[in-house]
Amino acid sequence: MKFPLFLKICPPKAAVMYTFITKSELFCFVSVILFFLDFCSTIDVKAQREKYIPDYSVYHNYSMLHREITQIVKRNPNFMRIEKEYESRNKVSQLVLHIKNFTGSFNTQISKYTENSKLKILFSYGVHAREFLPTESLLYLLKNLTKGLTFPHGSFEEQFSRYVLSHIDIYIISVANPDGRLYIESTNNYCWRGTETGVDLDRNFDWEYGRKGSSSDPKDEEYRGLHKFSEPESLAFTDLTEKIKFDLFMSFHSGIKHIYIPFADTKSKKIGRQVDNLNDMLDLAMELSHCTKYTYKYGQAYKLNDYTADGTIFDFMAGVRKIPFSYTVELWGQNHKGTSCFDLFNPPNEDLKEVLETIHPLYVQLFRYMIDWKSSQVRHITEDFNEESSLNFGYILMMLSACLTFFVCLTGKNRFHHRRRIVSLKSLGSSFSASFMKA
Ligand SMILES: *[C@@H]1O[C@H](CO)[C@@H](O)[C@H](O)[C@H]1NC(C)=O
Ligand SMILES: *[C@@H]1O[C@H](CO)[C@@H](O)[C@H](O)[C@H]1NC(C)=O
Ligand SMILES: *[C@@H]1O[C@H](CO)[C@@H](O)[C@H](O)[C@H]1NC(C)=O
Ligand SMILES: [Zn+2]
Repeated sequence: MKFPLFLKICPPKAAVMYTFITKSELFCFVSVILFFLDFCSTIDVKAQREKYIPDYSVYHNYSMLHREITQIVKRNPNFMRIEKEYESRNKVSQLVLHIKNFTGSFNTQISKYTENSKLKILFSYGVHAREFLPTESLLYLLKNLTKGLTFPHGSFEEQFSRYVLSHIDIYIISVANPDGRLYIESTNNYCWRGTETGVDLDRNFDWEYGRKGSSSDPKDEEYRGLHKFSEPESLAFTDLTEKIKFDLFMSFHSGIKHIYIPFADTKSKKIGRQVDNLNDMLDLAMELSHCTKYTYKYGQAYKLNDYTADGTIFDFMAGVRKIPFSYTVELWGQNHKGTSCFDLFNPPNEDLKEVLETIHPLYVQLFRYMIDWKSSQVRHITEDFNEESSLNFGYILMMLSACLTFFVCLTGKNRFHHRRRIVSLKSLGSSFSASFMKA
């Protein structure tokens, strides 16, 4: 898209001419080119001719997503709730789910302990309107977990669901940007990425907000909005992470097969900033990268991409909220040519089911890894606690024996004087025991 326009403005002949022009003319010429390149690099989100579009008997439109998710929640009241207060600018529900085993959570010390030892996860889907696939993969996961519970006790399916539900406390923002989604459904513009007003939520957060890895142009697909957190859609993210100390945040996208580790912003690239637990994050990303039939590339975002992104949600979760594991996962993509959009981000209708099956092990591996990580963390904490208390106990013992020694010394001295004068078997015995105690 950049190149054809550049050629129109500056025909190739100009390149041959440059040996005959002065330095300042060259400078001027280059500046003009750079200006136009910059101008041309604005990627707008106008509708394009599509190779294929969603068939809504295969893909879910927003109203079907709403219906299916509410039905699943209704059927599983012991494990799922909808947090109704989180809505878009147009007051459409973001379908924020809370999934855990609610039946065991009475307000006792023991259940508080087990609650705290549960892995706390926040998943986000549908930040970018045109990426339909991620929310479909969520639906697949929800059906898998809830269906498993209906299997006979002790069957593999039932045990898998039980394993997940007994170890995890998970919040899911199922459709982070419902206005954008509904905009696509009413306009059939499958290139639309932002909210209804065109704000890219993933450039709107308070982490290096407003720098050049985002745009101030409302027509640009990376439009950052008027100010940070300008969109009501961000409340679900900021509110939940303020209330709850999550172990993992994962933002699901599509368009390519990549797993990004923070940071993505321009400044981090410049100064080489890294997350604190980069090695753990790389380790999990590595496991995820090859646990499916696909191969995902993974790494720090500013290294993996040739562009930077400022004000992203996952950088905010890592840098500000200090969530130890924060990823952006691009679930799917294929070789793509041309300007069409739907096929860039979503598989053809007839391939959707197979793609979802292929992606699913990613969740299984993720849960397994993180549940192990969490139990090792809990072990560390209890060990630290035990060490600390045994240290305290040792302290008390030491002080006690010091006091005792002091006391014995004091009284023993007097006796010693006596013994010097009256030497008897009895006093000899007591002096033995006194010296024994000192030792
Ligand atoms: C959503 O999809 C369903 C199933 O294909 C269809 O019946 C319904 O009319 C669609 N809703 C809207 C608002 O387009
Ligand atoms: C949920 O918790 C209850 C009470 O602790 C327990 O009896 C039940 O087996 C749990 N269910 C699952 C699926 O983990
Ligand atoms: C859910 O997913 C797991 C892991 O892939 C699988 O083993 C299990 O059979 C699935 N359960 C159902 C009910 O499909
Ligand atoms: Zn995206």
